[in-house]
Amino acid sequence: MADRLLDAMTRAAARLYGGEAVSELEHALQCAELARDAGADEDLQLACLLHDVGRYAVDPSLVLDNTEPMRAGPHARGHHEVGAELIAPWVSERVAWCVRVHADAKRYLCTTEPGYVGRLSSASRHTLRLQGGVMTAAEVARLAVHPWLRDAVALRRWDDGAKVAGRATRPLSAWAPLIRHCFDR
Ligand SMILES: [Fe+2]
Repeated sequence: MADRLLDAMTRAAARLYGGEAVSELEHALQCAELARDAGADEDLQLACLLHDVGRYAVDPSLVLDNTEPMRAGPHARGHHEVGAELIAPWVSERVAWCVRVHADAKRYLCTTEPGYVGRLSSASRHTLRLQGGVMTAAEVARLAVHPWLRDAVALRRWDDGAKVAGRATRPLSAWAPLIRHCFDR
């Protein structure tokens, strides 16, 4: 599994991240590095590194909020759900949960933080619609009491910040030991 994942991430260097100016791989590396620089623990760094795995490591017909939604099959779901399910057998429940809710964290911030939606990139605003739009008050109240909400919101902010063209990061190989530690079990 570690080899498959590292291979998919390597190939993700050739894919643009949605409508952004970085590749899927650059986006993952920037997100993980922002978490690391902020002092996040290893599990949260791993969640950041893999949060979009559902965008590039699974069959696109299973994914609803693709950049090419016409490729989505009849049973397609959001990339966050498909990605979380892919990694869940190997990672902690907290890591899988943070990956699963990273679209909901965006929906949550749209409702709870004035000005947040206006700061989203246009690609991110487009997928917001596919992901259910801004949260209702009842949805916010449900998520607000979750013990890992802070982690999900933190991931979301690093996700939003991980779209800088040309930003230097550590290479994927620097993360390989962490990936192998989790996925070669
Ligand atoms: Fe992302």
